[in-house]
Amino acid sequence: MIVAVAGQKGGAGKTTVAVNVAAEGLARGLRVLLVDADPQGSARTWAAVGEEGGYPVPTVVVGDASMHTTLPTRAKSFDLVVVDTPPRAGDVQRAAIIVANVTVIPCGPSGVDAWALATTSDVLAQARAVKPKLRAAVVITKQRPRTLVGRTAREVCEGAGFQVLRTELTDRVAYIEAMNAGRGIGVYAPRDPGAEEVRAMFDELITLAGGKV
Ligand SMILES: Nc1ncnc2c1ncn2[C@@H]1O[C@H](COP(=O)(O)OP(=O)(O)O)[C@@H](O)[C@H]1O
Ligand SMILES: [Mg+2]
Repeated sequence: MIVAVAGQKGGAGKTTVAVNVAAEGLARGLRVLLVDADPQGSARTWAAVGEEGGYPVPTVVVGDASMHTTLPTRAKSFDLVVVDTPPRAGDVQRAAIIVANVTVIPCGPSGVDAWALATTSDVLAQARAVKPKLRAAVVITKQRPRTLVGRTAREVCEGAGFQVLRTELTDRVAYIEAMNAGRGIGVYAPRDPGAEEVRAMFDELITLAGGKV
């Protein structure tokens, strides 16, 4: 399974989703390849920090605009490939979406977060021209439960024409702490509700990708 984490909004939670999906794969005993296609290198740094701490980390490689041709061969030695992308609509995001079995688009709960999805729609449309049956869904991140913005986030994303995962990732310090520690929230804070959110998101992504890892 190749999962692309895409979307044009910086700070939406792409890298957080990417590293947690990768870490959840590791926790399930999968061979995981993490492709860091963002020149900023946050996913790479996360893995380096984890490795320094002596924790299991995925294999990490850099990704670029030719991923859609190079990655399928490389992916053969792994059960799960996760691609983190830069916050720019362009060749790199398009390559990631084209090569993926499923694309997940993190989106915060505010209006400005959801408005940025318009650009993402355009990138998905370009990718669909190459791969008509691509699967993509928004995951709402930094959710504030029991708030009005929290309730409207889903409606706004669905109104923009996106499938939205049932699982929402809430705004939790444990996500930030786990990232800082180079770990996934599931191993860093197994009893934090965020750990269950990541497991549920992972299960939904497998289903969306057609039920196989
Ligand atoms: N669910 C969450 N709860 C709390 N903080 C979060 C959550 N998701 C992301 N963050 C924080 O928001 C910031 C941006 O997230 P990041 O994953 O780097 O976004 P992107 O890769 O889209 O730029 C980071 O400081 C990250 O720790
Ligand atoms: Mg990032």
